[in-house]
Amino acid sequence: MSAPRRNVELKATDPDPERSLAVCRELGADDRGTLVQRDTYFRVPEGRLKLREETPGGAALIQYHRSDRAEARESRYRIAPVEDGAALREALDAALGALVVVDKERRLLLWEGVRIHLDTVRGLGSFLELEGVAPEDSDLTAESDRVAQLSEALGLDETRILADSYSDRVLAGVGAEELAAAARGAMERAYAPYSNFRVGVALRAPDGSVHVGANVENAAYPLGNCAEASAIGALIAAGRRQIAEAAVIGDGEEPCVPCGGCRQRLRELMPLDATVHLLADGGARTKMTLEELLPRSFGPEYLP
Ligand code: THU
Repeated sequence: MSAPRRNVELKATDPDPERSLAVCRELGADDRGTLVQRDTYFRVPEGRLKLREETPGGAALIQYHRSDRAEARESRYRIAPVEDGAALREALDAALGALVVVDKERRLLLWEGVRIHLDTVRGLGSFLELEGVAPEDSDLTAESDRVAQLSEALGLDETRILADSYSDRVLAGVGAEELAAAARGAMERAYAPYSNFRVGVALRAPDGSVHVGANVENAAYPLGNCAEASAIGALIAAGRRQIAEAAVIGDGEEPCVPCGGCRQRLRELMPLDATVHLLADGGARTKMTLEELLPRSFGPEYLP
């Protein structure tokens, strides 16, 4: 197998793309014009896999690994040109499942071996990316230096540098709506004839899969199950072990909060900084981290 290609990458928000373009031109960067790109990300167990469909240009399958750190970082990637992008997209979607689609317009400039991307991403806004492409034998010092030089010229301070990817950002927004809709569907199927208070929960696992549950009451009242417990059962039965994000919806006008016991149930499988969306059937909504819902909590790491 051939070794992956490498580059040093930096991604940042860009409040003023016109100014960035002017700075790049002043530096003598070669302006390659605008590309329209659609990236479809697939569910994969390792790293990331996306199909890029580009105009002008063609399609390519891109596999890569990159750490999620807010600094210039190494990325290892492989690019395989594809003749029939639409056919491959459909095949991968059927086999693996598409996770998210990112649409963007990219102004591409080249400067001293660094690719400069001035990106406008649908639904997200404007960003700037620097990619110092490394020859095979490079120790990445020269590429890091050139990326640092450019980022200074462009005035990129720490507050603008990003650790996550466009796909993470699109997924966070799209994902919240998808979770809310899934939770609502479960709520509508709840069995709550005694309290008449229906609750639905949707849990997203780190691989993007969504698992739902509803409350299930019983004529012997204490035997009733909370929706969170049902959803956790579904997630575990589907072979998952972690919760990346949760949505809870209940009848009424106030966003539904998980009961104390269910906060602890979530705590078992969910990072403390993960988001719990709290929704009401009436439309009200808010969100909190698990830690805000359950401060100073006890968890598996306390046990020997
Ligand atoms: N309920 C849940 O499903 N989850 C919670 O976290 C709060 C309460 C359900 C249990 C019962 O069926 C109904 O709401 C009224 O307590």
